[in-house]
Amino acid sequence: MIDFDALIAKYQKLGVSKNDLPTKDMIKTEDDIIAIKKAAFINNAVLDEVAKKIKVGMSTEEINTIVHNKTIEMGGIPAPLNYEGFPKSVCTSINDMVCHGIPCKADILKDGDIINVDCTTIVDNHYADASRMFMIGNVSKEMQRLVKVAKESLDLAVKNLKPFSRLRDIGYTIEKYVKSQGFSVVHEIGGHGVGNDFHEDPFVFHYGKKGTGMVLFPGMVITIEPMVNEGSRHVFLDASNNWTIYTDDGGWSAQWEYTIWIKEDGVEIIAY
Ligand code: MF3
Ligand code: CO
Ligand code: CO
Repeated sequence: MIDFDALIAKYQKLGVSKNDLPTKDMIKTEDDIIAIKKAAFINNAVLDEVAKKIKVGMSTEEINTIVHNKTIEMGGIPAPLNYEGFPKSVCTSINDMVCHGIPCKADILKDGDIINVDCTTIVDNHYADASRMFMIGNVSKEMQRLVKVAKESLDLAVKNLKPFSRLRDIGYTIEKYVKSQGFSVVHEIGGHGVGNDFHEDPFVFHYGKKGTGMVLFPGMVITIEPMVNEGSRHVFLDASNNWTIYTDDGGWSAQWEYTIWIKEDGVEIIAY
């Protein structure tokens, strides 16, 4: 375990402002980590199950059923269900849906679609949150590249992540890479602290200035979940359900999400 108070004192002496230092409640205990890993074990298996079964002609309602049943069968609780009124057990976001797509019978996967499936599992009151992209049938070369670039941007951010990194380095790395590939990064939605609750501080920006933002202490658990757009980065909220976010210009969007544990000697991807 880190000596939290000593580290805070050290960084304050170095001139880092309190706003850029974690609060003690952001540091997970060993017991927290054990429970988060149990949740992640189920979450990973649920996403593997989706990967095995997803196919052309399947409705997003059927994906919801797979996620819900597998999660319960393994002893977890699907966190999205009834979360702030969300009506389903998983988010399914197709093509120009950026995130928070709501599974339904009417949304049928077609040849060439891309879909994000975002699962969060609760075990022993602890949370693990991850999402993956799935490509349905024959996806165009350019949309294959969109999905790949989104994943690479996340992997690059994780590769550069170290204990005591600055938070905004994550977004700096992501946006720089994504722009270099001719795509854009959504700004309005970010990653987050996770583990003892679904969404905790800090907000994890997917853009920003290198060397700024919170100092990431060992014991913190966060998600990184960049949403990468084919066209403009701008998005809008579907007023009919107050959940689903779409790209403004109708271009397609891809997202991957990991739950990541910052440790004293490196970082560990817990849920993927
Ligand atoms: N899983 C999403 C995230 O990555 C949050 C979904 S909230 C829900 O943070 F209610 F839509 F499930
Ligand atoms: Co998620
Ligand atoms: Co998340």
